This record gives sequence, C-alpha cells and structure tokens, in this order.
Amino acid sequence: MIAAQHDLQAYWLPFSGNRQFKDSPRIIVSAEGCYYRDSNGRKIFDAMSGLWCCGFGHNRPEIAEAVNRQLLELDYAPAFQFAHPLVIDLANRVKEITPAGLEHVFFTNSGSESVETALKMARAYWRKKRQPDKARLIGRVKGYHGANFGGTSVGGIEPNRLPYGELMPADHLPHTLLPENAFSHGIPERGIELADALEELISQHGAARIAAVIVEPFSGSAGVIVPPQGYLQRLREICTEHDILLIFDEVISGFGRTGASFGADFFGVLPDIMCLAKGLTNGAIPMGAVVASETIYETFMDDDAPAYMIEFPHGYTYSGHPVACAAGLAAMNIFEQEKLADRARELAPHFEELIHGLNGAKHVTDIRNIGLAGAVQIEPISDEPARRPFEIALACWEKGLYVRWAGDTVCMSPLFISEKQQLDEAFNILSDCIGKVA
Ligand SMILES: Cc1ncc(COP(=O)(O)O)c(C=O)c1O
Repeated sequence: MIAAQHDLQAYWLPFSGNRQFKDSPRIIVSAEGCYYRDSNGRKIFDAMSGLWCCGFGHNRPEIAEAVNRQLLELDYAPAFQFAHPLVIDLANRVKEITPAGLEHVFFTNSGSESVETALKMARAYWRKKRQPDKARLIGRVKGYHGANFGGTSVGGIEPNRLPYGELMPADHLPHTLLPENAFSHGIPERGIELADALEELISQHGAARIAAVIVEPFSGSAGVIVPPQGYLQRLREICTEHDILLIFDEVISGFGRTGASFGADFFGVLPDIMCLAKGLTNGAIPMGAVVASETIYETFMDDDAPAYMIEFPHGYTYSGHPVACAAGLAAMNIFEQEKLADRARELAPHFEELIHGLNGAKHVTDIRNIGLAGAVQIEPISDEPARRPFEIALACWEKGLYVRWAGDTVCMSPLFISEKQQLDEAFNILSDCIGKVA
C-alpha cells in the first residue's frame, strides 16, 4: 500500500528531494535484523544502518521492552533541577564506555543538539576562565556537524550553508581529501601536514581568540573521508600547545562504527569534548550526549555564586528523557554484551575487500573506507553533479538494497550484525547498478 499522491503533500521531508520523492515514494513500513520492508512488501537489505544509527540490529526486543516498561513507570521527569535514576545510570555507563579522561555527560536529543551544546560549552568555558576573547570556533571543510546554526557554521559542506546567508563566524581547516590518496585502503598515508593549517589560523587570529576546533574523527556525511596517518594526533598536539579545546564530533564514529568503541580509541587521540547521538540508543529513540573532561566540568563548578545558581544555562526539556535513557541503557547493554565494536572490527576487512573490489568499475574515481563505513566516489556529470549517485542508489533500492547517495558519492555503513554473505549480495547489487548507470 503506497499512500495516495495527495496524502503525501502535507509531509515536508528533511534533506530530501521532495518533488522526486512524491513522484515516486519510498515508504518503509517495518524492520527486522538487517532488513527493511517497504510498502510493497519487498525486503530490503539496509546497508546504511538506517542513517548510520542502527548498527546493533533493527527492532531489538531488549530496547522495545525497556522503552515500554519505562513508559509505564515514569513517562517524564523535569530535566532541570531534578533527575531520575535512569539518567544517572546512563551517564555512568556513557562515562565508562567513552575513553578515560571524558568524565561528565550532558544529555541532548540529537547529534545537532550535541554539537550546539559542545560549542556553547567551549565558549562558556573560556569565559568562566576569564578569557572572553577566546571565542572563535574552527571546523573543517566538508565537515558535517548537524543542521542547527552553530553546527552549520562550523560545518563545511557548502550546499548546506549557502541557503542561509550569514552564519556564525567560524574558520575552516582544509579537508583531507587528497587526489594522491585515492583508493587508499583504510587510513591514507599522505597529508599529515594539512593539520598545520591550524597553526596558520592561530598566527592569523592568535590562540587567545580561539575557543575550540571541532572535527569528525572521519567525515561521514561528506562521503567517508578518513584523515591521513598522524593527522588527528597533530591536531591534538597543536590544540594542547596553544590551549585550544579539541571537540570530536563522534555522532557517526561513536559506538563501534570504526571497529573500536569510538573514533578517539581507533585513532588513539583524546579530545576534550565528545559529541554523541545515533548509536547511543541504536537509533530507536532520539538522544544525544556531550561528554566533557574533568577540567571542563570542574571549571564550571568552580563558581563563586551560591550553589543553587545555574552554572551552565543550557539544556533541553527532553535532556535525559526517561524513555530515551531506557533505550540508551538497553542499547549500551547490547553494545557491550555482544561486543559489537569487535564484531564491526572483525567484519571490516571483508567489507574493505568488497568495496575496493569496485575499483575499476565505470565512473568510479575513488573508494574510501574505515571500519564498517565506506564511500564510492562517482565521476560527476558536469551540470548535474549528484545525478549518477542518485540513479545508482535508486536502482539499488529497486533491487532490494538501501545505500545512501550524498553529493557525488554512494555511501555504505552496514549494521555490525551483518553476515559476510549479506554483504556479498549487497555489493553484487551495487556493482551491477554502477555498471548500468549512464
Ligand atoms: C558528525 C555528525 N554530527 C552531527 C550530526 C547531526 O545529528 P542529528 O541528525 O541527530 O541532529 C550528524 C548526522 O548525521 C553527524 O553525522
């Protein structure tokens, strides 16, 4: 059953070609394991973990039961000035799972809110330290940090910025997509010196005016751009040397996607602040979190004002929502008990072999991968740069495979519980569809 044409009109889809969608709707009605089912009853292999968020498997009964129980126990508790047991438990779980040194967890409802929270936290931190001029924020070209104003400002995907005119002031490091690294397996070798662009921004503005640098450990939305060997370490060194906060936006890379628990673990680099969402509840209930270092938290708490006064005037009605916490705790149980980061790591070499097996296919100009994330870059048609990936992904959908098209790439981020044979079948379809596109 597909909704009738007029039924669709009320719905304005986010980040979508609404007109094309309404001409040819793709309606997902149910999910199980690694599969979706559409309104025509077709079974579709989910090679994107939803939108990078459902890596532990769709419709996990443990999460559904926890959510159901919680809705009957405590549907909502005020987030400001009160707490409930689950939010305290989940804060402790997240602190335990994230790298040592990240100690205090502030809850949000999405990746975008996590980014806004981290940016405001960084600025307020320097003000608390009586350095109000340390306010500039630095992102990276091709970075994606959500859809809100701060995140769009530090974000570096031009089509996401252009429609909105003047954004918040922000600088951008160069992206790390070098032609000489094309078809690298995993971490590319060349380009560590790109991190030195931060030194140039420091000489331009002065470290005393820069609050924080925010990067994704690997750029996800721009098409899985993996930083070169040593690059993140170098950024860390420069930030430490100049007393600039380093924020890792781990909304995609968090909770196993790289094959380690977090990008910070994978690359062996500790940020001062980490942004999380997606995998935190396995996508089942909207939730995000920001995890901050002891120093940052203590700076906020070290306040001469009376103890009942608010230290960080920021938060959301639904921060740490009891139902989201129930989903989060159940998801964290699954993540740890089933050792899903290990599972992703074990499957990653097979995924790497398959995705690089597309080297030489028609129109393919680059292939990139890390853990269970990969992108195939497709040569753009000059006046319609995004058309081929769109046509490839639609052809895949017709054949029972869901991949994501974004810019000039086709992306894949399969569920961690995928079987090798399922990936084999998915890549057969993708290869076929790439081969047939004009
Ligand atoms: C790195 C990164 N940050 C932030 C976001 C925004 O998350 P959300 O869509 O939950 O607001 C995303 C979403 O894909 C992301 O990939």
